[in-house]
Amino acid sequence: MAETTPDVRHLPKPAAYEEIVGACHATLEGITDPIAAMATMSALLHHGFGHLWTGFYRVVGPELLRVGPYQGTLGCLEIAFGKGVCGTSAKERRTVVVPDVHAFPGHITCDGRSRSEIVVPVFDAAMNLLAVLDIDSDKPDTFDDVDRKYLEELMTWFVRPLQPPT
Ligand code: SME
Repeated sequence: MAETTPDVRHLPKPAAYEEIVGACHATLEGITDPIAAMATMSALLHHGFGHLWTGFYRVVGPELLRVGPYQGTLGCLEIAFGKGVCGTSAKERRTVVVPDVHAFPGHITCDGRSRSEIVVPVFDAAMNLLAVLDIDSDKPDTFDDVDRKYLEELMTWFVRPLQPPT
């Protein structure tokens, strides 16, 4: 298991992701519990990049997301598919990059300091939507195609036989 939580803010973005993704895989070796994976990824991404909020909203019912493992200030508890950035990503089953949250109609404000956001869908091996990964930044225009590429790749961790909830 990785012994420290790396800070990668000094690195160019691709190198930063290589280190964080590597730490995720190393820490999660032998683990098949999706909640443990969500918690571990949230911690490593959040502290690695110094984001404002990093975490998962899980699909818990028909067209309903509920907050899961996260790092940051209080997140709202439930989001319906189609609402806000998370609900849009869940409904359309695609990554949504928002350079300016104030320009996104229906953006849900959990922390007033949020300026930009990326939300990435999480699928299981059968292409069922399990969750979305939501990352918020206090700076505008933080996320781009590099974030999209590495985060979408990291989310393929969940495309494996997963331990059922206990
Ligand atoms: N901003 C999100 C809501 C979740 S919080 O930011 C943690 C949205 O519009 O879906």
